[in-house]
Amino acid sequence: MTKLRVGLLFGGRSGEHEVSISSARAIARALTTEQNTGKYEILPFYIHKDGRWLAGDVPQQVLESGTPLQLPSTPNDQLSVAKNQVLGRWQSPSQVAEVDVWFPILHGPNGEDGTIQGLLTLMQVPFVGSGVLGSAVGMDKIAMKTAFAQAGLPQVKYKALNRAQIWSNPCVFPKLCDEIEATLGYPCFVKPANLGSSVGIAKVRTRPELEAALDNAASYDRRIIVEAGVVVRELECAVLGNDSPKASVIGEITYASDYYDYDTKYTEGKAGLLIPAPVPEAVTRQIQEMAMRAFIAVDAAGLARVDFFYVEATGEVFINEINTLPGFTATSMYPLLWAHSGVSFPQLVDRLIQLALERHSGSSTTQEEN
Ligand SMILES: Nc1ncnc2c1ncn2[C@@H]1O[C@H](COP(=O)(O)OP(=O)(O)O)[C@@H](O)[C@H]1O
Ligand SMILES: [Mg+2]
Repeated sequence: MTKLRVGLLFGGRSGEHEVSISSARAIARALTTEQNTGKYEILPFYIHKDGRWLAGDVPQQVLESGTPLQLPSTPNDQLSVAKNQVLGRWQSPSQVAEVDVWFPILHGPNGEDGTIQGLLTLMQVPFVGSGVLGSAVGMDKIAMKTAFAQAGLPQVKYKALNRAQIWSNPCVFPKLCDEIEATLGYPCFVKPANLGSSVGIAKVRTRPELEAALDNAASYDRRIIVEAGVVVRELECAVLGNDSPKASVIGEITYASDYYDYDTKYTEGKAGLLIPAPVPEAVTRQIQEMAMRAFIAVDAAGLARVDFFYVEATGEVFINEINTLPGFTATSMYPLLWAHSGVSFPQLVDRLIQLALERHSGSSTTQEEN
């Protein structure tokens, strides 16, 4: 049997470069397990932090070592010449033409926002995960919340803003802050719309904090969102499928810090996972149902992790966000949720590739079974 050549695309220019390498290592291992090795051959492609695509030995080395490729230490002027030759100019390594199906495992801007998905769509080769629309809508918190609202999914109160409203007009800014205080109150969360990993997010409790956080968020992104802060437990659900997706058991993120900020996310031991989440059965069912609706609302495909806020005091559940390319390391929530739902890591990787092929051929009518 001819093996399907899987273009494993990892690294990337976002702040989640290292997570992407860990995810790619886990996926590469899964593709070489007994059940998958006869079906798939891996063609790894590493996107360097400077944007260069590398094929062949280099990505293999990065996968084996688990560490990002360092640029050779050349004198500054030579380095900038070298960088200018590659920055902003996408060049395709010749091996690109050999790929039968792409498995992009890139997180954050340029990876899960529809840009790479647009390139892969133009190549007319199947790829794992959401297309341009689902990726772009899932990435931008304002667009995502608009789609969720339209689908009738409950969310915390929020206000969408742009950079010009914050920076351009000193007369408008105080009115804007008055309005936020009146409609959302304190504490509230100020977020750049397109980043992830809690970067640029601030929980604010006073007017000076609000003003500073808006200014800071505007330095990260043209689009900014402010949300009413709620006291919550954080629950996550994994979704798998195309047009008739299925939801996994749900998990809970636990931490001792004030909220799930960057430091808590990326410092070993600061956050824990509970699978299944110890919540009433009705809450689990409600979240699973909302996760599948959210997946369809943004037109996701293949996989997504949908994150929720559970207000234990009132029993309310709010949708927080959808991640169309969630962390996929051996210890990440997404594959762990499926493992607890009876789908092993190697089976999950196999299923995602098959879903990519089905979606590409337009035959995505099969029901997920789990
Ligand atoms: N409205 C809110 N109320 C309470 N906590 C929030 C709210 N918004 C965000 N948080 C906290 O901030 C974290 C990061 O926010 P989130 O919107 O998920 O950003 P990111 O896309 O960077 O993960 C959440 O996991 C939660 O701990
Ligand atoms: Mg989040």
